[in-house]
Amino acid sequence: MERIETSDEGGPNGAPACSLLAKDLEPCQLVIFGATGDLTARKLIPALFALFRGGNLPKPCSIIGCGRTALDNDGFRQRLAENSPADLAGHPRWDEFTSFLHYRTVQYEAPQSYGELAAFLKELDKRGGTGGNTIFDLAVPPDVYPVISAQLIDAGLAGENDVGRGWTRIIVEKPFGHDLASAKVLDAALHRGFSEQQIFRIDHYLAKETVQNTMMFRFANSIFEPLWNRDYIDHVGIVSAEELGVGTRAGYYDRAGVLRDMFQNHMLQLLAMIGMEPPAGFTAERIRDEKTRLLGCLRPFTAPGQEDALVLGQYGPGRIKGRAVAGYRRENGVRADSLTPTFAMLRVYLDNRRWQEVPFYLISGKRMARKDTRLVIQFKEVPHSMFREVIGGKVGANRLTFGIFPDEEINLSFQAKVPGPRICLRTTDLGFKYYDDAFGPLPTAYEKVLLDCMQGEQMFFWRQDGVELAWAFLDPVLEICEQCDDRKARLKFYEAGSWGPEEARGLMDDLMG
Ligand code: BG6
Repeated sequence: MERIETSDEGGPNGAPACSLLAKDLEPCQLVIFGATGDLTARKLIPALFALFRGGNLPKPCSIIGCGRTALDNDGFRQRLAENSPADLAGHPRWDEFTSFLHYRTVQYEAPQSYGELAAFLKELDKRGGTGGNTIFDLAVPPDVYPVISAQLIDAGLAGENDVGRGWTRIIVEKPFGHDLASAKVLDAALHRGFSEQQIFRIDHYLAKETVQNTMMFRFANSIFEPLWNRDYIDHVGIVSAEELGVGTRAGYYDRAGVLRDMFQNHMLQLLAMIGMEPPAGFTAERIRDEKTRLLGCLRPFTAPGQEDALVLGQYGPGRIKGRAVAGYRRENGVRADSLTPTFAMLRVYLDNRRWQEVPFYLISGKRMARKDTRLVIQFKEVPHSMFREVIGGKVGANRLTFGIFPDEEINLSFQAKVPGPRICLRTTDLGFKYYDDAFGPLPTAYEKVLLDCMQGEQMFFWRQDGVELAWAFLDPVLEICEQCDDRKARLKFYEAGSWGPEEARGLMDDLMG
């Protein structure tokens, strides 16, 4: 990775040591499939508009929306303005931005559409001076990925560095398949024409500043890494609790459930960030090598002693912020007898020297008491406490908490003497608020993934070997969840607005306290 600005020891007046991790942005065309869909309007266009306003779009750059709906350029721009959450069209620079936007109607299964698209892109590239560089972003339902990628390959649009062509990249969103077998099929479909370097598999958790910072915390400080192992750490909690319900996504969610939606990707990436060995270099490949190695250490769920390692739940009716909300089975598009879990607690072990027998609790659920994503590193109690007799009780063990959202902070709890003549201990905190030092508005996760892809930087994207290890671990868990005889009995209902099923409540109270 190229560094364009560095300072080893921090700049004058306490300025930070920086590596902007940026390459010059080369001109490019960004072709978005699914251009009339929700993801484009809610995430992609607002992110591209923000990059534009910050002067962070390549120059020149063209954005081409493709969808089945027949629209012209103006109709497309109008639709985006109507469907985007923020008042984009009210911004003084919206009109300037929309001059980069084009629209093509594409029937996804029709080869002719791609022939026409290829001719259009070539002509636009020549006119716009984008150097033959192209990104295809598949903002479409996952079952359409193989269709579009096959057509792009057959139309000769996947190749790169031919005469008159620059680079070509393709962005796919999770889920990468529905299980291990289908993930392999999807990968084979992509690899028929795209090399691994051309494929960018998004996990927006990896684009979060606070998630990336776990690496800096672990590997840019010498005092934590010696403690980062089974000798000092009792257990680790990785929690992503959401207030939101399934919303308008029941069609997808009721088939996926929380394990595919959150665990196969985000939760296992967080586990990898906390558990991996120090990478040999700050490069995409070295970091992804270590994360993949870590996923390869996951103890198979079929090993003995795992009976209580999985709690599955589904939200019933309840209250969120004082407002009554429906249970999952009453949500629009959900089957009335659905057994899809909206909550899971999974206890996993890593069979390697560093982590042997340290439980990692991965927990995620919808319609919980509040939105809270955090990583909790619970240290062991001191081996012998001389204070125990004096204070007549247990001395609290240290805890390190990475707040990912909404509290973007790091806290280390420790014991201190309460001032005064009596001997009393209390737990207190050393804290760091991530944004206290922020340097202006920070990019959103989608701004960062798009920027990284434009720079060809794959550090915070999934690599296929990692995807397959994640599915290989999860497939047996999904089997229990979806095929075992006591499926119904296993699913525990919890009230919307609570901390999940009773069976996991003690753990949740501990981790969220
Ligand atoms: C998405 C899931 O990947 O992550 C959603 O599909 C979930 O169901 C979302 O709501 C959570 O992301 P965040 O960034 O809000 O924690």
